[in-house]
Amino acid sequence: MTDIAATPLLKATKLSKVYRIGRSLLPSRRQQVHAVNEVSLEVMPGETLGIVGESGCGKSSLGRCLMRLQDITSGQLEFDGRDITHLSPRRIRPLRREMQMVFQDPAASLNARRRVGDLLAEPYRIHGIGSGSDIDDRVSELLRRVGLRPEHALRFPHEFSGGQKQRIGIARALALNPRLLVADEPVSALDVSIQAQIINLLADLREELGLTYIFVAHDLAVVRQISNRVAVMYLGAIVEIGDADDVFSRPRHPYTRVLRDAMPRPSLYPPRRARTGIAGDLPSPFALPSGCPYRTRCAFAQPKCAAERPALTTGADGRGVACHFPLRDEVTADP
Ligand SMILES: Nc1ncnc2c1ncn2[C@@H]1O[C@H](COP(=O)(O)OP(=O)(O)OP(=O)(O)O)[C@@H](O)[C@H]1O
Ligand code: SF4
Ligand SMILES: [Mg+2]
Repeated sequence: MTDIAATPLLKATKLSKVYRIGRSLLPSRRQQVHAVNEVSLEVMPGETLGIVGESGCGKSSLGRCLMRLQDITSGQLEFDGRDITHLSPRRIRPLRREMQMVFQDPAASLNARRRVGDLLAEPYRIHGIGSGSDIDDRVSELLRRVGLRPEHALRFPHEFSGGQKQRIGIARALALNPRLLVADEPVSALDVSIQAQIINLLADLREELGLTYIFVAHDLAVVRQISNRVAVMYLGAIVEIGDADDVFSRPRHPYTRVLRDAMPRPSLYPPRRARTGIAGDLPSPFALPSGCPYRTRCAFAQPKCAAERPALTTGADGRGVACHFPLRDEVTADP
């Protein structure tokens, strides 16, 4: 594993993203979706931070805010110690070389009418890097890095399998030697057998190139495979954050435990209780519950939970939990 230095590569402080929906010209009359709610996190160089949570909990919105692909409603975002919260599009452009995104659907993010060689050469042309045979060499090297062959440059995206398309998506993200990759559900659209290959590729590239990752997924098992630390999101907020293995083997937030126990891969975790899925629906993002956002589904809710929102509190062991009544560590083997 790459050495972890002391200054975060990315730091978010109370980051929020509110979408306003509706046709009224008056912003105050439009409905608000609090997709990201005061998220604070740090990502150290060489580290992989996994972000997990149910569909609609704000993972992609957070990922796009961290990449400055969309405006941030409030809070602060720093990249390598520099405040980039409100950088203009012109000033954010050079930063694009340092932060890249890998998307869930590689087919949708690759222009079907252009050859792969062209698609991979585009970042160099846009940024005025190299020319002619130099770019061809760079493209061949990119293809090799992701386990494809130089002659694949001549093919069109539809001539590749899903896993190969994702390799091309990763190659494109790597073209400009970024320091940070935000991967938003990069394997969710792939067969399980191919998922492991892509995860291994990402892990190898991280070692080889000293990359830092933010890895977004709803599948805890996938996130655990590649992450050093993991953040669990619920209704736009981080409810638990800490070392990936510790969070999954000894969850302290009731939601983390439910999420883990709903995992469809019993072989990874011996079932401690019946696997029942996640009970109840996610509350409407238009009207968040008072107090703890998880209280409408929590088996441990008490009156204090409706009255007071629990803050994300970090203990001496580095684990952050937003719960008034955190779970105690479980014993590893059931009697
Ligand atoms: N452009 C947008 N305009 C309005 N609301 C949005 C927009 N994008 C996302 N939302 C809303 O914000 C909330 C968070 O959505 P987001 O896509 O970030 O969740 P997610 O965790 O990535 O979900 P999934 O796992 O399904 O990808 C949802 O309620 C969603 O409907
Ligand atoms: S604060 Fe209360 S409702 Fe929220 S997770 Fe903890 S016990 Fe459950
Ligand atoms: Mg998403």
